[in-house]
Amino acid sequence: MAASSNSPPVQCRRDLSGQTVLVIGGSSGIGLETARLARARGADIILTARNPDRVYRAGLELGASIAAFDATDFGRLRRFFDALPAPIDHLLITGPGPYHAPLAEFDPVAARRDVDAHLLLALQVAGHAASKVRPAGTLLFLGGACGRRAAVGVAFTAAVTAALSAVTRDLALEVAPIRVNLIAAGCAGTLPAGTRPAGRVVGPAGIAALAVHLMTSTAVTGATFDIDGGQRLVEG
Ligand SMILES: NC(=O)c1ccc[n+]([C@@H]2O[C@H](COP(=O)([O-])OP(=O)(O)OC[C@H]3O[C@@H](n4cnc5c(N)ncnc54)[C@H](OP(=O)(O)O)[C@@H]3O)[C@@H](O)[C@H]2O)c1
Repeated sequence: MAASSNSPPVQCRRDLSGQTVLVIGGSSGIGLETARLARARGADIILTARNPDRVYRAGLELGASIAAFDATDFGRLRRFFDALPAPIDHLLITGPGPYHAPLAEFDPVAARRDVDAHLLLALQVAGHAASKVRPAGTLLFLGGACGRRAAVGVAFTAAVTAALSAVTRDLALEVAPIRVNLIAAGCAGTLPAGTRPAGRVVGPAGIAALAVHLMTSTAVTGATFDIDGGQRLVEG
């Protein structure tokens, strides 16, 4: 269908100058790579993580503001948002890897921690975003592709993976015009890199490039973006 003549033009801001990017879980891996790329594109950076030494080192590298706390301590999270001196533009949540275990070893306490870290944290942050993220800004969640395929030991992971996609879609309506998107990163799996359609495994730098793209592409919201080198196409 052709776009109507009065559709607003799709903007694609290439430059993050004058914008602030907050990364919750930004002291290593995908969070740190995203912060590096956003900094290189001109953004001011705020990083949080639990380990104070690691987040200090990352902050020093990027000239970023830092805070060290457990983001699943929701009282502490609220105080952090309350104390932010100015609105932010974009926010990425990373955090711990997914919890999975076969039934015989399944630990409900660890599973509840995982729900806190992956689902409740996203909802809590979205609640703070309304007053702290500028209207043209973005919330970005990071999930995985593990658990999409039926396998032994991933029943819980599968539920959380599916739920985060649903949370993303529904929050995109609830916090609009702030945009909300989910990056579903491929897991290492058993598939050699060369047998993936893209011929490679996607690492933190590739995921960071997608994250920054989603911050600057103003027409994208409520969507889940697979980044897995095509792993899901050949693993079934
Ligand atoms: N790497 C991949 O290719 C890949 C693939 C698929 C999915 N993922 C998903 O992407 C996410 C991040 O992966 P990654 O490789 O970037 O991991 P990572 O290198 O371990 O980084 C995780 C970051 O989150 C922080 N963090 C963890 N728990 C936290 C908490 N409760 N409160 C605040 N900060 C917390 C960590 O610092 P502290 O430990 O100091 O808090 C660190 O800065 C995970 O959910 C993972 O499942 C990654």
